[in-house]
Amino acid sequence: MRFHHLLASCVLVATSFSAGAQMLARPGWKGNGLSEQPWWKNAVIYEIYPRSFQDSDGDGVGDIKGITSRLDYLQSLGVDAIWLTPIFPSPQKDFGYDIADFTSIDPQFGTMEDFDELVSQASRRNIRVIMDLVLNHTSDKHPWFVESASSKDNPKRNWYVWRDGKDGSTTVPPNNWLNRIQQSAWQFDPKTKQFYYHYFAVEQPDLNWRNPDVEKAMFDVARFWLNRGVAGFRLDAVNTMFEDAQFRDAPPLPGTNEYGEPARSQEYQRNQPEVHDVMKALRKVTDSANGQRVLIGEVYTGSTAEMATWFGAKHDEIQLPMDTSLGFLNKRNAAAFRKKMTEAQQLKLDTPLFVFDNHDRPRSWDRYGDGEHNAEIAKVIATILLASRSSALIYQGQEIGMKTTPPTRKEDVRDPRGLAGWPKEKGRDGERTPMQWNPGENAGFTTGKPWLPIPADYTQHNVELEQKAKGSVLNWFHDLIALRRANPSLHEGEQVMLDQDAQNALVWVRRSAKATKEKPPVVVACNFSAQPVTLQLKKQVTALGIRGSFMRSLLRTDGGMGGMNLDEVKLPPFGVFIGEVRY
Ligand code: NOJ
Repeated sequence: MRFHHLLASCVLVATSFSAGAQMLARPGWKGNGLSEQPWWKNAVIYEIYPRSFQDSDGDGVGDIKGITSRLDYLQSLGVDAIWLTPIFPSPQKDFGYDIADFTSIDPQFGTMEDFDELVSQASRRNIRVIMDLVLNHTSDKHPWFVESASSKDNPKRNWYVWRDGKDGSTTVPPNNWLNRIQQSAWQFDPKTKQFYYHYFAVEQPDLNWRNPDVEKAMFDVARFWLNRGVAGFRLDAVNTMFEDAQFRDAPPLPGTNEYGEPARSQEYQRNQPEVHDVMKALRKVTDSANGQRVLIGEVYTGSTAEMATWFGAKHDEIQLPMDTSLGFLNKRNAAAFRKKMTEAQQLKLDTPLFVFDNHDRPRSWDRYGDGEHNAEIAKVIATILLASRSSALIYQGQEIGMKTTPPTRKEDVRDPRGLAGWPKEKGRDGERTPMQWNPGENAGFTTGKPWLPIPADYTQHNVELEQKAKGSVLNWFHDLIALRRANPSLHEGEQVMLDQDAQNALVWVRRSAKATKEKPPVVVACNFSAQPVTLQLKKQVTALGIRGSFMRSLLRTDGGMGGMNLDEVKLPPFGVFIGEVRY
């Protein structure tokens, strides 16, 4: 049904998009060649932080040409799409998330020609390019804001959220709302004697989404990039797009916030219902482009149920809201993982997009590692990400086991969040250090001085070395992605969690509706502990109506070759075995 609907929308394209866009419907653009599902379902999406991926001109900052030069690597890894964090002109107060022009390329990253070349080269390798679309705010240097701030009666005044101070005050803000780092969310403008609202940094004023002109302008931005061939958007901070229309004060909450200050509710600043109308309208824009474009949402919710509201009641909003409630559990607890995975598998028409790593959070290597088995634990995490029923997001460097390397001195901090919150808050530099390509100078990232230091462990953790090393984290990612592509049960099968009470193991079965004797159900068994375990699974697998007692090995971390009996699945500490049930 859904597929037909998508095909129908492809036919509509010609009416709403320029002739140039027709060229973009290349072979492989529509599906993934494996099933009738749109390509983004069960896709592997790779997040690139362009500043830190590959520098091509020796200025120490990564760029678009650098990304293009690494496409062969991404193709060999097997990714379906890359998501680029913002590369638009920006004062870089929030490293690109403060945008001064939505439809150009920042010269430090290259030119529009470089971008077109990237899209074209990526497409040749069947890799789609997804852009970041920052709807919530602009830079304070964006011409819209400059105009808006110029006078109270400027036509763009109402494009941003301006208010008088409390009782006309020039020092007391309109209400007690706090921003992302728990400082006042209001900034006084001495020229026009009003305050403007900013949920993020003071240089990132919020757009006023209650003004239809804002929607029109931002949807034009979306059309601009769709016409240039992007496969969709990762929507930044969508849950903060609207604020309470009455600007009511934030009620106090019990306890303290992450900065140790009295906590305050953000219910009037986040998740206002109006955002769903905008998502529906934006989805119409992307659906009316040719090919299958996708909306990915940064929604940060605490549960799958809450995340699922972003699909829309009629599945007409965001196709892939990020499910961070699993990846950011931050405790190695099998029962907690099982609970989240069980919740996620209850989604029927939709798949979750699991995320364990991104450019905003310490890396999973450190959040889940025990200091002794980190590489094995990274493989367990990769297995949960890539062998469960989900679309998967990999953040650059995750696949080689990069670790978080936060600055140790304030003078080295680059992230504004770290500068504002030091020493309690060290900022996000630690997860943004340059990609480690090889054991040579600057890890192969740049011939110049890297904008952030290269972590000391690059001589052991780098692409070149790990490609050659049997049993490396990188080869595990590679082999898992290849298996997920080739095996219908792993690619699109339903998922049932087994061993419900095990504290030390996480086990599940994947079974495609197309399962046959040749393509049988697949069991994924992960040891979630530092001790060897032996699992008995036969009874549980039989209870699912699956015949057979033996599993042929598809992939295993212990280097062994053979299969295993369902009643004697032996796993070393943090070992993984993936096998198909033979009968
Ligand atoms: C989320 C982005 O991932 C983060 O890096 C940025 O600072 C905020 N949104 C504001 O745009």
